[in-house]
Amino acid sequence: MAAAVIYRIRYIVCLLSMLSLAVHTALANEIPAQGPFTDSECVSCHSDRNPELIRQWRNGPHDPASGVGCSSCHGSLHADANVKARKNQGCTNCHEGPASHSYSKSKHGVLNRIEAHEQDWRKPLKSGNYRAPGSAYCHLHDGDHDDTMSADRGPEVRQWICVGCHSPRYVREQFANGRRQLDIADLKLTEGKQLIASAANSQTKELSKLRQSLIYHRRNVLYGVGHQSPDYQWWHGQPALDGDLIRIRDAIE
Ligand code: HEC
Ligand code: HEC
Ligand code: HEC
Ligand code: HEC
Repeated sequence: MAAAVIYRIRYIVCLLSMLSLAVHTALANEIPAQGPFTDSECVSCHSDRNPELIRQWRNGPHDPASGVGCSSCHGSLHADANVKARKNQGCTNCHEGPASHSYSKSKHGVLNRIEAHEQDWRKPLKSGNYRAPGSAYCHLHDGDHDDTMSADRGPEVRQWICVGCHSPRYVREQFANGRRQLDIADLKLTEGKQLIASAANSQTKELSKLRQSLIYHRRNVLYGVGHQSPDYQWWHGQPALDGDLIRIRDAIE
């Protein structure tokens, strides 16, 4: 009888200590050390916790070869690590020029900027949490550490992100219009390249500069279409390509 009681008490003590170990481990998981950490420490610890995230980072545009580490976006401390990474400023520190300029001139860019102080940046980058999308909302959507907008993901993935806030029909129309804009820009690019290639003075500095200019302005159309930025579709894009064609013809004559 006494043995049975002792056995039961031991059993309960054992259960309690297992429970306390589980609670302890869960707490340790939830409250990580604050840092500062080096990039290789971030990678090594998070490789165990988020192997899929680390795989995406290695395959994506910010792979180790790009020189962009975890702390480039998150800072080296855990406090506010996600908040820092979600704000546009973190991206535009490195990505200046047409990539971020086209976005900042778009309706999304303007809304995101003027409402930045009302936005709760602690919220994950998901539909419903943000009124207008910022850089990370589209390119690192929902914790994706590759590029969600990358061409090899296909248009369906990009459209799916827009459909979080716009109607499917509206989004399909925007994409069809974007496709037409790019087709027209490609016709101009091909025409300009062919004019240069068949010119007697094709190797001159002036024409090779104009060839670069064509490529640059074709890319502006892509930024304009991708970032829904009329300024880049129309001012820095299509008319700029038309100007290149006129200058190429002048230079050849
Ligand atoms: C010793 C292990 C360890 C190291 C080193 C470490 N982390 Fe963490 N990190 C954790 C744990 C634990 C959590 C919380 C649980 C989780 O999300 O896995 C966490 C959470 C995070 C989060 C999510 C925060 C949130 O609010 O959801 C981010 C972002 C993050 N870490 C980035 C980093 C960066 C950047 C570095 C390097 C500067 C780093 N971590 C270094 C263990 C680590
Ligand atoms: C190009 C910028 C960038 C780089 C580089 C980057 N992150 Fe992130 N990371 C983000 C953004 C933005 C978020 C927030 C995603 C969201 O809110 O859905 C995030 C979220 C996270 C989270 C939380 C994921 C979740 O689902 O809650 C962890 C953990 C994390 N990053 C760890 C890392 C580690 C470790 C590295 C280095 C291997 C790294 N990040 C590199 C931008 C970056
Ligand atoms: C420390 C600098 C740095 C930071 C911060 C950074 N990037 Fe990058 N990013 C790079 C480099 C370097 C590359 C690779 C070379 C290139 O394509 O420009 C790159 C590539 C990219 C590409 C692919 C471009 C292409 O033409 O395929 C995208 C998209 C991108 N970054 C978006 C972002 C976003 C969104 C953020 C913020 C969440 C961000 N980056 C933060 C440096 C940075
Ligand atoms: C997080 C929500 C959100 C996402 C995601 C989003 N948008 Fe928007 N978009 C908005 C808001 C809000 C406006 C401003 C609406 C207004 O005029 O009041 C807007 C405006 C626009 C406009 C300008 C409309 C005009 O009248 O000038 C276009 C075009 C557009 N979005 C296309 C897209 C496309 C394409 C995508 C995906 C690549 C996308 N949006 C993703 C919220 C979003």
